Amino acid sequence: MGSAVDSPAVDRPFGLLAELTYGCPLHCSYCSNPLELAAHTDELTTAEWQRVLVEARDLGVLQLHLSGGEPLLRRDLPGIVRYAAELGLYTNLITSALGLTPRRAEELLAAGLDHVQISLQSDEAALSDRLAGVRSFERKLVAARLVKELGWPLTLNVVLHRHNVDRVAGILDLAEQLGADRIELAHTQYYGWALRNRDGLLPSRAQLARAEDVVRAARGRLQGRMEVIYVLPDYHSRYPKPCMGGWGRRQLTVVPDGDVLPCPTAHTLPLPRASVREHSLAWIWERSPLFQRFRGTNWMPDPCRSCDRRELDFGGCRCQAFQLTGDAARTDPVCHLSPDHGLVAAAVAAADEEARSRDTVLIPRRSR
Ligand code: SF4
Ligand code: FES
Repeated sequence: MGSAVDSPAVDRPFGLLAELTYGCPLHCSYCSNPLELAAHTDELTTAEWQRVLVEARDLGVLQLHLSGGEPLLRRDLPGIVRYAAELGLYTNLITSALGLTPRRAEELLAAGLDHVQISLQSDEAALSDRLAGVRSFERKLVAARLVKELGWPLTLNVVLHRHNVDRVAGILDLAEQLGADRIELAHTQYYGWALRNRDGLLPSRAQLARAEDVVRAARGRLQGRMEVIYVLPDYHSRYPKPCMGGWGRRQLTVVPDGDVLPCPTAHTLPLPRASVREHSLAWIWERSPLFQRFRGTNWMPDPCRSCDRRELDFGGCRCQAFQLTGDAARTDPVCHLSPDHGLVAAAVAAADEEARSRDTVLIPRRSR
């Protein structure tokens, strides 16, 4: 493998997010998949995915996250899992659980799948089904129990927002009943459909304070039994998140039609494309203009350029900077030092109006 041609030094990627299909039975209003799904229907074949997996392993990838959309819609999923397992990759299925029938689960177990992560929308059937846009709550519970019966470690992932953040106590109780090993309570990231629905999804500061009290108490109670991950809402933070651990530094994403991205939503940025159908994964990771564009700190404008935190948060999120300011090279407006921070502060202030209806109409994600 050739060495990188450009500074800064290129790290090895640790994780590959393989988005096998954008097809999905759910219609979540916070979905970060592309708004125009019809433009992404030319999915990689099984053989193309196998080549990607070999190249990923050779590049240093250790963990494979199989996602979408809904990866169970791919009939060849067990074959892809088996191939990855034979390459020595740790495999994690990220699923809505719709389609995780006993037969499919047995196939995936036999193929060597290591871990299952199931999304939950709430702890109540009616709210959960409303948020998912389809009757799914009971099926998710059945699938979660099946995962535990088959001996897999189970992570539950709950995207939090204004409509379910007051249910955190009940969600934690449900996770405990299901025997989850880990729960990720992750506040909505505002990309794709979520950005379109932002005003209806952003929680108030009072809601957040209540949820944080519940999480703190639960962590003490559940210590040693269930890991509770709470991902802070970056809109309400002083500093931005170190998105993806830094651009082109630890993670890469391959989307259904073979484009390779530094993060799952980078297709929204006006940057050159890079596809596994045209280049090797090593070339894309090390040399492509896309991956080099925001790697390291040389690209940074002020205030990041002279900031002590530039190696900690890498100036925040490029997609968020682009979506909010039209320029992906600006400091993430979430940062209180950003000249554009007023854009985020205004949205947060509006969300603090508790009187604002919690029943704001959310636009559901469309199927393709
Ligand atoms: Fe991070 Fe830039 Fe804000 Fe400093 S100015 S905290 S590097 S986003
Ligand atoms: Fe794309 Fe943060 S989501 S860089």
